[in-house]
Amino acid sequence: MSVMSELVLREATASDAGAIAGILRAQAIFVHIDAEAPEETKVRLEERIRASVPSHDLILVALVDGSIVGYGAVRWMQNLILRGIDGYLSELFLHPDAVGKQIGTRLLNAFRDAAKTRNAERLWCINLRDRDSYKRAFYRKSGWDERDIAVFMERQPPSR
Ligand SMILES: CC(C)(COP(=O)(O)OP(=O)(O)OC[C@H]1O[C@@H](n2cnc3c(N)ncnc32)[C@H](O)[C@@H]1OP(=O)(O)O)[C@@H](O)C(=O)NCCC(=O)NCCS
Repeated sequence: MSVMSELVLREATASDAGAIAGILRAQAIFVHIDAEAPEETKVRLEERIRASVPSHDLILVALVDGSIVGYGAVRWMQNLILRGIDGYLSELFLHPDAVGKQIGTRLLNAFRDAAKTRNAERLWCINLRDRDSYKRAFYRKSGWDERDIAVFMERQPPSR
């Protein structure tokens, strides 16, 4: 499918929080988001976007005809072993109506460009194997290698 000419990518601002919250809710895979009121999600995302630091975070939104249809976020991380920094793609989500139109590829390419500007050595993401993006090999088809490594996680007790 051809790339739509009206696609715009730009950095997210706090005023995008409601649209991003809507995209996350539309995934219908995040139990805590589905359980809370839309306003609650929006306020939380506003706070998180405001708390992002330009030297460490890049949050991009994708707009078609002026409406946000997707977003992605990368955190730039120090790694003293490497010659450059790492970029961790923590999220990349499109509204279900916007998938399959190369918008995800365009967002990924924008993060690649940003990685180049920052002399990053690698981009990473964790892709759960039960997700459509994994099943349809989005990252592999985009040229990313699947690493045979263990990912460890410890859930932290809630602070309040
Ligand atoms: C995964 C995602 C970001 C890909 O963006 P996209 O714009 O839909 O993908 P593109 O149109 O650029 O297509 C590139 C590849 O993505 C994959 N893809 C296409 N449609 C897809 C869909 N509905 N769901 C998942 N992957 C899809 C295919 O591998 C496709 O390659 P192909 O055209 O050779 O089959 C997007 O589909 C999405 O947000 N899906 C739901 C949320 C998700 O799974 N996010 C990833 C969390 S890590």
